[in-house]
Amino acid sequence: MVQFPKDFYWGAATSSYQVEGNNVNADWWPWEKKVGRENSGAACRHYELYQQDFDLIKSLNHNAHRLSIEWSRIEPKEGEFSQEALQHYIDVIAALRSRNIEPMVTLHHFTNPIWLSAKGGWADQGCIKYFLRYCDFVVRALGPQVHFWFTINEPTIYLSHAFLWGMWPPQARSFLKTKAVHDHLIEGHIEAYRLIHKIYKELNIAAPAVSIAQHMQAIVSCAPSLKNRLAVALREQWYNLEILDQLKKRKALDFIGVNYYSRHLVDVHSWWIGNLLMETCQVNNHPLKKNFLGWDIYPEGLHHVLLNLKKYNVPVIIAENGICTIDDHERWEYIRDHLTQVHRAIEQGVNVKGYLYWSLMDNFEWAYGFAPRFGLIDVNYNTHQRTVRDSAKKYAQVCKTGILET
Ligand code: FCB
Repeated sequence: MVQFPKDFYWGAATSSYQVEGNNVNADWWPWEKKVGRENSGAACRHYELYQQDFDLIKSLNHNAHRLSIEWSRIEPKEGEFSQEALQHYIDVIAALRSRNIEPMVTLHHFTNPIWLSAKGGWADQGCIKYFLRYCDFVVRALGPQVHFWFTINEPTIYLSHAFLWGMWPPQARSFLKTKAVHDHLIEGHIEAYRLIHKIYKELNIAAPAVSIAQHMQAIVSCAPSLKNRLAVALREQWYNLEILDQLKKRKALDFIGVNYYSRHLVDVHSWWIGNLLMETCQVNNHPLKKNFLGWDIYPEGLHHVLLNLKKYNVPVIIAENGICTIDDHERWEYIRDHLTQVHRAIEQGVNVKGYLYWSLMDNFEWAYGFAPRFGLIDVNYNTHQRTVRDSAKKYAQVCKTGILET
């Protein structure tokens, strides 16, 4: 049995596009149709059903909730800001506050307004100015009710999937664009960080806590060799730490949001930089249980990742951690085993302030569609009926007591 700190944040996370439904002005919407992927459609209808979803959160003893604002609703056409959409999010935040749930708000979670994509999206230098204008509009309105902000969700995943591998819109597959997007995301965060702090000063409210949600993997060598050791060190730096280093250096990191799911197995057969950075293990001698999408389940990795964050000397919030599975017992085991590792890290001096399971409910898992079931709550996509899973009930006990039976 282990006991978590008293003021720990317990909850779950979602993102607008994945749960709200009918985000017709976002770049993913036409893209899904163009490439013939499963359409996000009505998704979970969370845009309309958020009150009942927040009642469920409350009944599950969560005291925090991470959600994102859909830029394409706020600014459906360039320079035209929707008061109606803004009011919706004001109401959403108020609905959380009235239930004593701490809102943690992401400003950019993978999707962009179609008009922005048409200009080149994050590869175009103008994106920073547009992003700041949108942030200004939202933060001024929500500021008094929100303390925790994530400017950008998983910059490394976004830039690699959308601009390098070409798996997500705009499917660019360009090294030059990837580099530009990388720089713009970092600059976008830093400027948004400064802007948010400035707005709070102007509004005379206590300083906010601003970060990104950083995707981090446990980077593990498949077999001992010098090449592998070098590759692990390079990838640790490039995939996990490089952006955080820059943000810390530029004083734009009040805490660190960590998204952790799995491990990345390294096995390198040549000294070529491409191999050092990308070659993965083909014959895995240490197979682990996998989630529905084939990702290794590796709780110790979260401990490792957290210890690596000690040097930044800022609080940490696990902004996402979860499993897609059709076996809900596996979900509970995943949560229990990862929380055990979080607790270990806390005991070793990592200042972890909260844990947000991904996801509150089953949702639209990007290019994989609706098949992967990540939710604490089951969603029937025909009726949009919610059913609380057993794992959610077990997690609710931990949220209530701060005590985990390991
Ligand atoms: C993360 C994303 C989140 C969700 C999970 C499974 O990379 O931030 O939206 O798709 O993976």
